[in-house]
Amino acid sequence: MTGQTELSCTASAMVAAGKGILAADESTATMSSRLCAAGVAPTEQNRRAYRELLATTPGLAEGISGVILCDETFRQSTSDGRPFPLALAEIGMLPGIRVDCGARPLAAAPGETVTEGLDGLRERLADYAASGARFAKWRAVIVIGNGKPSARARRANAHALARYAALCQEAGIVPIVEPEVLMDGGHSMAACAEATATTLVSVFGELADAGVELAGIVLKPNMVLPGQACPESASSRQVATATVGTLRGVVPDDVAGIAFLSGGQSPARATENLAAMQRFDLPWPLTFSFGRALVDPALAAWQGKPERVAAGQDALAARVLCNRAALLAA
Ligand code: G3H
Repeated sequence: MTGQTELSCTASAMVAAGKGILAADESTATMSSRLCAAGVAPTEQNRRAYRELLATTPGLAEGISGVILCDETFRQSTSDGRPFPLALAEIGMLPGIRVDCGARPLAAAPGETVTEGLDGLRERLADYAASGARFAKWRAVIVIGNGKPSARARRANAHALARYAALCQEAGIVPIVEPEVLMDGGHSMAACAEATATTLVSVFGELADAGVELAGIVLKPNMVLPGQACPESASSRQVATATVGTLRGVVPDDVAGIAFLSGGQSPARATENLAAMQRFDLPWPLTFSFGRALVDPALAAWQGKPERVAAGQDALAARVLCNRAALLAA
């Protein structure tokens, strides 16, 4: 495998001090339903305009190292005619691309999924790299409850993540490895810790077997939380202690960094939990790669109105500033 030094430099830049990664890579279907929910027509032009609002937020590069795009946005241009990957690079952020094709039902594992998208991935990655992609994302989805996650689902998803990661590194692209244990359900925080740990053990076993260079990946896990429908509540200190304790046991020191997803937490809660984790002395930088916890306020403020672009950008800038402060306060 070639380009390891460049890969590890890119991975380190993605988790540089005080910076996180903006996940703006919702699929067309998901983005369209979020636009509809905000009262905005779900057209290709509105999806483009919204992503331009996000990417061109003044000062964004001070707190954002890179932006994950979906294929549609990756191939679109900002209104001044620059392709999004070029526009991001010129503003000082790394362009990223989501390359998985979504979670599909896994055979012989009722209620569980495996993420697809490996067919033709080598060629797609070469194409994305030639167009400026510096990193990629693949999300596996793990559910808790009634005997889940099964070993079968963990292994299938871990194997796919590892094959994706190896192909990314072959193409000179840093893989974000995202095994998300969902918050959905009434499970306890202990059940989330257990599912997160066993999933990560499977993932790092497969990454090793696939020859993936850990200094050239960014891990994107969930925080360890009680399920959304669980009556148990957890303080930020408890979430931080459980999350850090879980990761310490299973994530090798060589990993370039850890960038958490928000997973449906409120923006404020996600930031508080991230801040509480900064107090620990750990072998890897811990940062954010939030989607909803960064962009939801911006979408609500924008309302699809050109005259409200600045209001949307202010809302995103405010969330980025809070998360940057959380990273730097330790
Ligand atoms: O795949 C999920 C996104 O990259 C992160 O989104 O922060 O809304 O969970 P989220």
